Amino acid sequence: MNKIDYLRISLIDKCNFRCQYCMPEEEKLNYLLSSEILTKSELLTLLKEVFIPLGFTKFRLTGGEPLLRSDLPEIITEIINLPQTKDLALTTNGYLLLEKAQLLFDSGLRRINISLDSLNPQTFDQIIGNKNKSRWHKTWAGIQTAYEIGFNPLKLNVVIIPEVNDGEILDLAALTINRNWHVRFIEFMPIGNHELFSEKAWIPSVEIRQQIKAKWGLEEAHITGNGPADIFKIPDSKGTLGFISQMSECFCDRCNRVRLSADGWLRPCLLNETEQIDLKTLLRGGINTQKIRKKVAKLLLLKPEINYKERDSGTKNNTYYRTMSQIGG
Ligand code: GTP
Ligand code: 5AD
Ligand code: SF4
Repeated sequence: MNKIDYLRISLIDKCNFRCQYCMPEEEKLNYLLSSEILTKSELLTLLKEVFIPLGFTKFRLTGGEPLLRSDLPEIITEIINLPQTKDLALTTNGYLLLEKAQLLFDSGLRRINISLDSLNPQTFDQIIGNKNKSRWHKTWAGIQTAYEIGFNPLKLNVVIIPEVNDGEILDLAALTINRNWHVRFIEFMPIGNHELFSEKAWIPSVEIRQQIKAKWGLEEAHITGNGPADIFKIPDSKGTLGFISQMSECFCDRCNRVRLSADGWLRPCLLNETEQIDLKTLLRGGINTQKIRKKVAKLLLLKPEINYKERDSGTKNNTYYRTMSQIGG
């Protein structure tokens, strides 16, 4: 059995983007009330008294958009200062990095993954659901700022959608040639926006790899990370290319992670909504953390079964109750 030592922590369900593949376009999401969101102190109690004693050492902060959370710098510093923390990283859409990257760095964060689906401002705005002044330039400036400040490794997440941004595969891959950036192509998963998803809505990683290989060649490579990406690089390039291929090459058998939602639900598998534990209610109900830890330990033992055998159970008509923005990717 894999060691489960990576906790993805969603800090907030709100997002300032509305990416087509992540959130439904029209339907209004019922955002959490602030009273429903775990406070910094509750989160730290769970880390110190439940997750760390169970062997968790790698943490990722996600959202929605985690930079919308006002106490993010303090959360970063507190987690970095825990002696057991081996790795802390953050996933963001990058829009607020221009003004906030330095503060995050000064708080102790060193590792950041940023979504960037297009180099074309119009396509970018189409994907993120923006109808006003283009948001591409500020996002791009935020990425450059983060790089100049010294975030390393700096990874860019790209979801390729046929007939939207599939013409940009080579341009996006080329970002890694002269920059120490790490571009990851993620297969679109049927979670978040079902209306957009169909069998034709995703492109297998192998096709993307072939396009890149035909142009420059590809070799295997390595980069710091805890996620499911397979890493390659264009020969002599400074950065790497990653491929996250849930749809074509399910990687559940090497899963090392569970997810904590902003309102304190522990989710053992991204693609399975059964067997979750409402940690916030237990904590606020005064249940002692030793008991909570026992419940979590039991769930972790069950995880391999949840991963493989019941992957799609717990979903209504194959529709997930929570969107990707609520789960944190
Ligand atoms: P690194 O530590 O840098 O490797 O990060 P990561 O790849 O774990 O984090 P990131 O937030 O950048 O996630 C990239 C993509 O991988 C997102 O689309 C995630 O939804 C997807 N992903 C991460 N973990 C899982 C998982 O357990 N199952 C599935 N199906 N997808 C995952
Ligand atoms: N399929 C694949 N990746 C997705 N993300 C969000 N929704 C989906 C989806 N349906 C990605 C975003 C972000 C990461 C955390 O999850 O691109 O980079
Ligand atoms: Fe886009 Fe991430 Fe916001 Fe979802 S949570 S809408 S992927 S920026």
